[in-house]
Amino acid sequence: MYKLKNKSILITGASSGIGLELARRLAFENCNLALLARRKKVIEQEVRSFEKFATEIITIKCDVTKIDEVKDAIEEVKSKFGKIDVAILNSGISIPQNITNFKSRYAKEVFDVNVFGLFNFVEVLIPEMAANKDGIIVGVSSLADGRGFPQNGPYSASKAAASIYLESLRVELKKYNIKVITVKPGFVRTPMTDKNNFRMPFLIDVEQAADTIIKGIKNEKTLIQFPFSTSIGAKFLKIVPNFIFDFIAKSYR
Ligand SMILES: NC(=O)c1ccc[n+]([C@@H]2O[C@H](COP(=O)([O-])OP(=O)(O)OC[C@H]3O[C@@H](n4cnc5c(N)ncnc54)[C@H](OP(=O)(O)O)[C@@H]3O)[C@@H](O)[C@H]2O)c1
Repeated sequence: MYKLKNKSILITGASSGIGLELARRLAFENCNLALLARRKKVIEQEVRSFEKFATEIITIKCDVTKIDEVKDAIEEVKSKFGKIDVAILNSGISIPQNITNFKSRYAKEVFDVNVFGLFNFVEVLIPEMAANKDGIIVGVSSLADGRGFPQNGPYSASKAAASIYLESLRVELKKYNIKVITVKPGFVRTPMTDKNNFRMPFLIDVEQAADTIIKGIKNEKTLIQFPFSTSIGAKFLKIVPNFIFDFIAKSYR
C-alpha cells in the first residue's frame, strides 16, 4: 500500500473539477501539494478552505502546452519540496464541434493540452524521477478513449493517444522504478461536463471520482477506471461491430 503522508504531489489542472477535488482530498492526507493551472488566482482562492490541513501548499501558474512554463514550474516545486513523488497530470480540455462548422484549430487546442501537455511533463519529469529511481506518474485519460464519439472526435482521439502513450511509458519506466497509473473516468460532474447538452449515462459527482483516484493510487493500481457501469459499457462498445456502435453512439447525441 502506497503511503501518501508527507509525499510531494504535483497536480495539473488544479483550478477546477477533478484536479481541484483531488487537491482538497489530498490536503487531508498531510501531503505537500504543488497545484498548477493557468488560473493561479482561482487556485489561491479555492485553497483557502483547505490549506490548513495540508503540510504545505504552493500554487503555480503553468500552461501545460508551454514547455518553458513546465520547466519553471518543476524547478519551483523541486526548490520548495526537494523532489516530486507523485505527478498527477490531469489538465484537459474538450471542445465539442458541429462537423458542418469544423475548425482544425480547436482540434489542435485539444491535442496541445491533452496530449502534448502530457509529453511536456514527461520530458521534464522523467530525468528527475529516473535519477532518484522513484516516482509515480498519474495520467488522466478517459473512458472515451476506446471509440470515436460523434461531435467530440478530437477529444476521443486525444484520449486514445494519451492512453496508448501512458501504456508505453508504464512498461518503459519500470526499470527506473517509476510507476505509471492511467486514470480513465466516465462522466463526472465538473465544469467540463456542465456545458454538455447530451445525455451522460452514469454521471458521478467529483467527490466520488477523486476518492476513487486516491484509493487507486494508494492501492498502486496501474489502471483506475470508473464508475464500474461506464467501464463495462466502454468495454462493450470497444468490441461491438460498427453498426451496433453507430446506433448506440447516434442515440446519445
Ligand atoms: N469530467 C469528466 O466527465 C471527465 C471524464 C473523463 C476524463 N476527464 C478528464 O479529467 C481531466 C479533468 O477534467 P475536469 O472534468 O476536471 O475538467 P475541468 O473542470 O474543466 O478542469 C480542467 C482543468 O484543466 C486545466 N487546463 C486546461 N487547459 C490548460 C492548460 N493549457 N494548461 C494548464 N492547465 C489547463 C484547467 O485550468 P486552467 O483553465 O486554470 O488552466 C482546469 O483546472 C481532464 O483531463 C479531462 O479530460 C474528465
